[in-house]
Amino acid sequence: MNEHANPQSLSERADALEERMMHELGERIATKSTLFAMADGKVEMPSGPALKAANPDKFFLMGADPRLPKMPDKPTLIDFFNNRFASLNHLLQSATHALKGGHSEKVVLACLLHDIGVASFIRCDHGYWGAQMIEPYVDEEVSWAVRTHQALRFFADPSVGYEYPKMYIDYFGADYKPEPYIVAEYERAKKHKYYMTSRLICVNDIYSFDPNAKVDLNDFVDIIGRNFRQPEEGLGFDNSPSAHMWRTLMWPTRFL
Ligand SMILES: [Fe+2]
Ligand SMILES: [Fe+2]
Repeated sequence: MNEHANPQSLSERADALEERMMHELGERIATKSTLFAMADGKVEMPSGPALKAANPDKFFLMGADPRLPKMPDKPTLIDFFNNRFASLNHLLQSATHALKGGHSEKVVLACLLHDIGVASFIRCDHGYWGAQMIEPYVDEEVSWAVRTHQALRFFADPSVGYEYPKMYIDYFGADYKPEPYIVAEYERAKKHKYYMTSRLICVNDIYSFDPNAKVDLNDFVDIIGRNFRQPEEGLGFDNSPSAHMWRTLMWPTRFL
């Protein structure tokens, strides 16, 4: 359909979409955080009073968003994999690669979790975000490796056959240079006792994503069970330093 065939302007269509979403929500008003608008190039947030004035008989959403897959009361890491991670293929392919390569369970888990920052909510600095989410629940070797793959993937290590990914030349251009904080992270990491664990994330990172590869989260349930300290109360409710991050993934449209 071309623009002229539709008398609605873009903003009218956006309003109509908002309206439809509101209906799916029933009597609740879901709100978008500033970050969601910044992805559209705008620094703005919906005004609470204006939304309330437009919907005087509705309350703001302060819990689960009915448009999203339902989470259990005591969510596990597997529940987040199944209900909140937008794509599992890359994580499962990398972990499968590491498993077949005979690496330790810590390396396999690090590969399985290395990009959960991207899969669940943010690309920028995803290694740091992902590491912070899992830090209270895994061996420090695993979280350190996830954090540091953010930097290491930009630097070759011929000793293990890791080259600068060709995909990055396609994606970022041949003249892209990592920022100084990434270079500094790499320099520190080279001397660290867990360097090779993080490097193995890069080695097992599958840059040519194969949508048809046969991978299965069930292959990793036992490794997760042995290496991820699932809190009894459920992720998000255990008062850990990253519990709020898991809660935010659970309830991304809560008003506060
Ligand atoms: Fe990554
Ligand atoms: Fe990756």
